[in-house]
Amino acid sequence: MKKSAIVTGGSRGIGLGIVRQLAKDGYSVVILDVNSPEQYKETFDQLTAEGVDYVYIQGSITEKNDRERCIEETVRKYGSVDVLVNNAGIAPRVRADLLDMSEESFERLISVNTKGTMFMSQAVAKQMIKQPYKDGRKGIIVNISSMSAEVSSINRGEYCISKAGVSMLTLLYADRLASEGIFVYEVRPGIIATDMTAGVKEKYDALFEQGICPIKRWGTPEDIANAVSVFCSGKLLYTTGQYIDVDGGFHIRRL
Ligand SMILES: NC(=O)c1ccc[n+]([C@@H]2O[C@H](COP(=O)([O-])OP(=O)(O)OC[C@H]3O[C@@H](n4cnc5c(N)ncnc54)[C@H](O)[C@@H]3O)[C@@H](O)[C@H]2O)c1
Repeated sequence: MKKSAIVTGGSRGIGLGIVRQLAKDGYSVVILDVNSPEQYKETFDQLTAEGVDYVYIQGSITEKNDRERCIEETVRKYGSVDVLVNNAGIAPRVRADLLDMSEESFERLISVNTKGTMFMSQAVAKQMIKQPYKDGRKGIIVNISSMSAEVSSINRGEYCISKAGVSMLTLLYADRLASEGIFVYEVRPGIIATDMTAGVKEKYDALFEQGICPIKRWGTPEDIANAVSVFCSGKLLYTTGQYIDVDGGFHIRRL
């Protein structure tokens, strides 16, 4: 039976890669993103040409009404929410030293990355609990956190804190939802080539050259999407609360 997946922030970058991969895996996909659909016309035309079965919902994960509208629309169109990929996230507008970080930036990051993910998961979990089992599970939630969940960057501490919160969300929901037949996982991307990192391209090009990662290249949205695909495959149903580093081996401590 065909399944449906909600991918937040699925209009570009990593989220768009996930949308394409889940469509290949047979999912109908609902994209929840903040901008007007006109802005993504070219992308959506491509998805249509590729035969991707998708719906776009304009809204923010920070808004209760938008979250609920997205879930209602998914259930109305596809009958259930089988997968949620919490991918939407933002970086600080300014990379400021920890001692200069503004409260406004801290609140902005926590609001989207942590609170948005927390309450999107909560709303979707309540829907998944009501659903019958399909292929051994009622639902799967995959959180896209970051290497920054455990790596210190003192010029964007608010991002690190917000993503560390996402890692704890993974554990909490995995624990709470296991008995409900809902499995929760996390992907921790390393340095991935998207609009988010476009502004620091030269810096990271040089770092890759110097060997910052054992695998000497930028990660791609497809690298992250492949990991999401594995978690959603249903082949890991005696695991929950697990994460995978998709970071070119960055996490390995080296001498
Ligand atoms: N690019 C990287 O190197 C990298 C590394 C680690 C983690 N990540 C994480 O991966 C995820 C995707 O990153 P990306 O590089 O593709 O970024 P991106 O900026 O290219 O895309 C993010 C998408 O999320 C959407 N979005 C932002 N706020 C939203 C909200 N409130 N509600 C709904 N949608 C919203 C944006 O409109 C955009 O489409 C983010 O959570 C990011 O923190 C990225």
